[in-house]
Amino acid sequence: MVKKINFKNIPNHLAIIMDGNGRWAKKRNLDRINGHREGIKSLRAVVSAVMEYGIKYLTVYAFSSENWQRPKTEVNSLMFLLDEYLNIELPFLIKNKIRLNFIGNIERIPENSKKTLLRVIDKTKECDNLYLTLALSYGSREEILAAAVRMAKDMKNGKIKIKDADENLFSSYLYSKNMPDPDFLIRTSGEKRVSNFMLYQIAYAEIYFTKTLWPDFGRKELIRALKNYEKRVRRFGKT
Ligand code: IPE
Ligand code: IPE
Ligand code: MG
Repeated sequence: MVKKINFKNIPNHLAIIMDGNGRWAKKRNLDRINGHREGIKSLRAVVSAVMEYGIKYLTVYAFSSENWQRPKTEVNSLMFLLDEYLNIELPFLIKNKIRLNFIGNIERIPENSKKTLLRVIDKTKECDNLYLTLALSYGSREEILAAAVRMAKDMKNGKIKIKDADENLFSSYLYSKNMPDPDFLIRTSGEKRVSNFMLYQIAYAEIYFTKTLWPDFGRKELIRALKNYEKRVRRFGKT
């Protein structure tokens, strides 16, 4: 156990692109699904550490809208793992007052996993210790386009006026409407891209890339990233 550090500043909203499960498995001559299983352990470790450090919002990219293009066997396994994870995790979430939510187009998620997801969301709706959001079947361009269309409809039917359109109003049409923008974005596995993740919301997020594959990421790695965040000077365009 690493000693708890007192950080001078901690992100209010941490977002993570959990990448590298497949490569982790490949390195060990295992099937990709073993990497995804191991990745769930990392998520558990990170959720615990995030609570310990008082981070209020954690959003994790679990499945992108582009990930539907993966082989059917992998997609099915991931959907099964989602269901399993949610069922196993529910008592932990309730015990630790973690509210679960999602961003994304869950209409494409298989019925049983979707049902479990909605059940866990409902069972944790009074929780307020940590807001854990899963980005599922999530694509940022899709989200922005859907928001624009819904806003246009509301303008057309007179619910809002064109002159009222501002960034705040537009944000209220995004999947992320109930959360602040991420302060810190971590991507594991060495890839230096954002892969259609929260493009609108990360406008001023600090970004941290690590070569560590997601299944190897845990409390220690998170602390390393938070130490890095602590040193960042956020100017938001000012001097
Ligand atoms: C991230 O790991 C998990 C998902 C995208 C579902 P990957 O499955 O992308 O692993 P790599 O990038 O192939 O190693
Ligand atoms: C991004 O990882 C999506 C998730 C982590 C869920 P990918 O592995 O799908 O991204 P690319 O294809 O390397 O950009
Ligand atoms: Mg990947």
